[in-house]
Amino acid sequence: MLAGRRIVLGVTGGVAAYKAAYLARRLTERGAEVRVVMTPAATEFIGTATFAALTGNDPVVDLFSDKDPSPHTSLAAWADVVVVAPATASTLSRLASGESSNALIATLIATTAPVLLAPAMHTEMWEHEATRHNVATLKEWGYHIVEPDSGELAGGDVGVGRLADPDAIVDAIESIVINGPLAGLHVIVTSGGTREAIDPVRYIGNRSSGKMGNAIARVAAARGATVTLVTAADAPDLSGVETVSVESADEMAQAVWGRLEGCDVAVMAAAVADFKPSVQGTTKIKRDSGLPTVSFVPTADVLKGVHESENRPFLVGFAAETGGLEDAAAKVKRKGVDLLVGNDVSRSGSEFGSDTNQVTLFYKDGSSKALPLLDKDDVAKALWDEIVALRGAI
Ligand SMILES: Cc1cc2nc3c(=O)[nH]c(=O)nc-3n(C[C@H](O)[C@H](O)[C@H](O)COP(=O)(O)O)c2cc1C
Repeated sequence: MLAGRRIVLGVTGGVAAYKAAYLARRLTERGAEVRVVMTPAATEFIGTATFAALTGNDPVVDLFSDKDPSPHTSLAAWADVVVVAPATASTLSRLASGESSNALIATLIATTAPVLLAPAMHTEMWEHEATRHNVATLKEWGYHIVEPDSGELAGGDVGVGRLADPDAIVDAIESIVINGPLAGLHVIVTSGGTREAIDPVRYIGNRSSGKMGNAIARVAAARGATVTLVTAADAPDLSGVETVSVESADEMAQAVWGRLEGCDVAVMAAAVADFKPSVQGTTKIKRDSGLPTVSFVPTADVLKGVHESENRPFLVGFAAETGGLEDAAAKVKRKGVDLLVGNDVSRSGSEFGSDTNQVTLFYKDGSSKALPLLDKDDVAKALWDEIVALRGAI
């Protein structure tokens, strides 16, 4: 469940900081990608080298480092889940008052990902009116809290305040993923560019890399959806995603149409060929035979088939255009989609294969909204936010 999930682990200045190393280990063992952000006080308790070795990434401690001009917003956008373990009384207080003077709290305030806080402190600190008030406020705001255990504390005292067992924290993270905003949804995503065979060796294809559709599938799974990715690109290694590899438009159509029963949302991000050679050679066409003539016939229209299915899900189409998006707007009605994502692949930053994309969302009521140039992962997150909002409005 955690494989491939992006987890930001915040570590604060409490004695239990050493247990965060074990937690980082457990998360990476389960296949999660972990990035650590430490408060300056945390470095008094445990070294950055430990987390660097365990996670493969240098922890962020300084907001103003020269490595990343804005480490808190980078971490905030990257995270599928943020967990703070241990969370000191001081960090809880600063978070509850929005005082974001260090990299951890700035990340917490900048992120829209779910946040799990695992407080740890002496019993008196945990039971203090200020801490109780802060925890209540944070819960009310939607923060997830793993309450501290009762037991032996630093210095030999006994009482409530011990950091919850790291394995229980891992379970709580899993439960956040499972119960994410897309929990219970069955989703089909397509990605990649289809290939239409001319003969067993050659094909007509396009330059789509599959990165956009793969990001949409990854984010859906990270938010708790059951995801099937039908891809014409190299199958990505995405945990919790059922991947079906296809080559041609017709194969993609059969793979998608055959899986529509029980599907809630279909996001058709693949670049599907509109036409295919009318005849596919069964053996390689030889140079000696002279210049061949290739004639074309239309391929199966994947999007149209989904729209016309008796199991029609909420349908999102993609339109890759060049030289403007006028046609994309018209496609909303023509293709019968609920939402159309248009991108101009001739624009810098939105080319096929790029890690970024600038998309415009076209709605059924004729309106549209342009998103800024974003990482494809952030486009995927924004798109799922939009789908959830639109499905609620249907
Ligand atoms: C030896 C020692 C142990 C501490 N343990 C804790 C603790 O377990 N929980 C806590 O809330 N504060 C603890 N503190 C106090 C925090 O380190 C202090 O409030 C610090 O400012 C927290 O900063 P941070 O929240 O930015 O990491 C401890 C301090 C010392 C000196």
